[in-house]
Amino acid sequence: MEALVCRKIGDPTVPISESSPISISTTHPIPELNSPTSIRVRVKATSLNYANYLQILGKYQEKPTLPFIPGSDYSGIVDSVGTQVTKLKVGDRVCSFIGLGSFAQFLVADENDLFLVPDGCDLVTAGALPVAFGTSHVALVHRAQLSPGQVLLVLGAAGGVGLAAVQIGKVCGAVVIAVARGAEKVQSLKSLGVDHVVDLSKGSVTESVKEFLKARKLRGVDVLYDPVGGKLTKECMKLLNWGAHILVIGFASGEVPVIPANIALVKNWTIHGLYWGSYKIHRPGVLEDSMKELLSWLAKGSITIKVSHIYSLSEANLAFSAIKDRKAIGKVIIAFDDSDSVRSKL
Ligand SMILES: NC(=O)c1ccc[n+]([C@@H]2O[C@H](COP(=O)([O-])OP(=O)(O)OC[C@H]3O[C@@H](n4cnc5c(N)ncnc54)[C@H](OP(=O)(O)O)[C@@H]3O)[C@@H](O)[C@H]2O)c1
Repeated sequence: MEALVCRKIGDPTVPISESSPISISTTHPIPELNSPTSIRVRVKATSLNYANYLQILGKYQEKPTLPFIPGSDYSGIVDSVGTQVTKLKVGDRVCSFIGLGSFAQFLVADENDLFLVPDGCDLVTAGALPVAFGTSHVALVHRAQLSPGQVLLVLGAAGGVGLAAVQIGKVCGAVVIAVARGAEKVQSLKSLGVDHVVDLSKGSVTESVKEFLKARKLRGVDVLYDPVGGKLTKECMKLLNWGAHILVIGFASGEVPVIPANIALVKNWTIHGLYWGSYKIHRPGVLEDSMKELLSWLAKGSITIKVSHIYSLSEANLAFSAIKDRKAIGKVIIAFDDSDSVRSKL
């Protein structure tokens, strides 16, 4: 089978060659079923997450042993089932996530780890749901318990987790403020019905948000969703209400922000560190319930998975470049099978 293999640490955006850290193997063995409840999935699509990029760069918190097949969330078709599988059958459309290994034509998972993609939902884009929407859903619904009328401020709002957070915020009935850079990203966010969008290329986030809050007679921000970090986090702290929740999601800016404990004390802030993948070990039930709710929202059309770029496996370096160069609006996907017919920019 075809698989993308990371053989050394390095920059995955350089053209795939002898010297690049990633290469395409066409002779990788197809994985065998490994238990009576295991299922082999023929992968249809797998999404790129910022973490996949950081992992190949050697800058992610988890450092797999080399060589490894990267990739975490995916969608596909059930290809074969173990003798005791009861929940799924060959041909079912599924999606899920895995620690490593989704940048490959086949993978094996336990039946309890797979979710049926509802009829009518696109299978390719479903491969981009679990990590981005899962992270934002657990953060906003389970951790911050976002409620109707609260003000949610989303940083990196046109990126993978950001665009998911914005939509989940709207489903929860929050007033959603989104922060992104550039006209195209701003336009995408407006089309999702966001209440206010700050274009970082046009000025200060605090001024823009304060004007909006004043016009709407709102006191401040109740929940800050932060996958960016750095100076932006520091600035946004000036906008937070008494009793606000700060969701620490990631550091796409490359800078870990400092949140002063004295101000958190005085203002009664709750700071949530969130590592979504670790829920699989510590609170698997939360992840399962979250995925089920998200898939039901997807089926009803309450959320949509926006994908700005689709590539084939052999174009993986271009897919990583879209992430690195901040070109992605929503998700970047690698698709299998009919990948020759899908073009890089939708
Ligand atoms: N905690 C968890 O469990 C979890 C789960 C998933 C992701 N994450 C983290 O969340 C962050 C975002 O992930 P993602 O998959 O949404 O990434 P993404 O799609 O690439 O989005 C990142 C966004 O961050 C903004 N950004 C600001 N400074 C940047 C910089 N120097 N380089 C790149 N982007 C920058 C960009 O928006 P503008 O260009 O509009 O400024 C971009 O849209 C990453 O740090 C990732 O590791 C954490």
